[in-house]
Amino acid sequence: MKICVIGLGYVGLPTAALAAGSGHTVSGYDSNAQLREALRAVRTNGYEKDVREVVASAIREERLVICDRVEPADAYIICVPTPTISGRPDMRHVESALSAVAAVVSAEELIVVESTVPPGTTERVVRQALRAAGKGFLNVRIAHAPERILPGDIMRELRENDRIVGGRTPEDAAGARDLYASFVSGRIHVTDLRTAEFVKVIENTYRDVNIALANELALFCEEIDIDVWHAISLANNHPRVNILRPGPGVGGHCIPIDPRFLADQNPFATELIQASRRVNERMPNLIVRRVVSLIGEGDGERKVTILGASYKANVDDVRESPARRIGDLLEERGFRTSVYDPLARLPGAAQSLQEAAEGSDAILLAVNHDAFREIDPMGLAPIVRSRVLIDCHNFFSEQAWSAAGFRVYALGRGSHFTLPQAFRQQSSSA
Ligand SMILES: NC(=O)c1ccc[n+]([C@@H]2O[C@H](COP(=O)([O-])OP(=O)(O)OC[C@H]3O[C@@H](n4cnc5c(N)ncnc54)[C@H](O)[C@@H]3O)[C@@H](O)[C@H]2O)c1
Repeated sequence: MKICVIGLGYVGLPTAALAAGSGHTVSGYDSNAQLREALRAVRTNGYEKDVREVVASAIREERLVICDRVEPADAYIICVPTPTISGRPDMRHVESALSAVAAVVSAEELIVVESTVPPGTTERVVRQALRAAGKGFLNVRIAHAPERILPGDIMRELRENDRIVGGRTPEDAAGARDLYASFVSGRIHVTDLRTAEFVKVIENTYRDVNIALANELALFCEEIDIDVWHAISLANNHPRVNILRPGPGVGGHCIPIDPRFLADQNPFATELIQASRRVNERMPNLIVRRVVSLIGEGDGERKVTILGASYKANVDDVRESPARRIGDLLEERGFRTSVYDPLARLPGAAQSLQEAAEGSDAILLAVNHDAFREIDPMGLAPIVRSRVLIDCHNFFSEQAWSAAGFRVYALGRGSHFTLPQAFRQQSSSA
């Protein structure tokens, strides 16, 4: 088939390369001209290693061609962002991608929206774009195939995950199913358009609500001197319990955004969903309050070193990152901050841990990157100004940091906690 992928970001580029590797002729279009130029030159920094390899061979072998416009194809796959603005869904990228598709699409061709959208959106925006292009009566096939990858392992997940495919009609769904079956090895579950849209949104909503529960339990445990990490790991031994991990908030382009799609559609039927959002959104503020109670108010001098800038461990994506929110809040309160993240290299961030930690009054672990396991508190002790560790993930060994003279606060661990270290390590690795 001839496939055109529109939007070549975290989702679109590997999807285009995977389809190209399965024998399709693939064109890729992104509205960002600099990105198109970089991709043509096979400059793919910023994408995961596996993605870079597959993309490089697809582009070099000309199975994937980067184009300056949407090219006519048998199937169009839309992978553009779907953010919220002031809590409301912003579908402008999808609308503009679809108007470019509408300009070239012919009868019987398949339009698939992969971007996550509120239920009911795909058919409405496709119809709208066709009408605007004077093709209101064109018989195109319409489908939604939401992407469900886990950043950090994108290429494998793209190939192997089960897919949900929803069609406007059973024939449209079958067309989309056949397309995905040609490059995905997971099972393909076929349904109608609105259900497919809804399923993707509730998957992320489930995670947001579950994390909010974990966060609420963490705060509760701090009050009653219980180690929440140990308690959750014990509760999760139950075959029907799976509580996620507490943390400094929820970030990324999906989990904090998608629940708002439902809340926006029906504010009265989404009380739990909205309350969970509030709990998770409050976490960065709460971490800042912990900083103040440990080292005092920001006075223009006190410095906090933030370990990690990305929205979660082992990725470089900083969208909606709680770590960055914590940094902004600290600065608003008069703290100086420095950031060190070996993956997400931000402008202004320190080049090394030593540079970031020099003269610091607190080390704040905001992202639990595996690379931070290497940090030796004995090495930091002589270069910081005061020895305080704020661990938002129960990640570091309290024993090792205490031995280096640090006062340790870990989110969700009661302050007078006395369970032996061996138990704690078991619970944090569970
Ligand atoms: N990143 C993830 O892990 C993930 C996982 C599941 C679902 N999703 C969903 O997939 C969609 C895409 O997310 P992403 O992370 O790949 O976004 P992204 O920001 O990484 O990439 C989107 C790309 O689309 C381009 N773009 C924007 N408007 C365009 C237009 N009109 N025409 C052509 N290109 C355009 C942008 O320049 C950008 O390069 C979103 O709806 C997101 O919610 C993302």
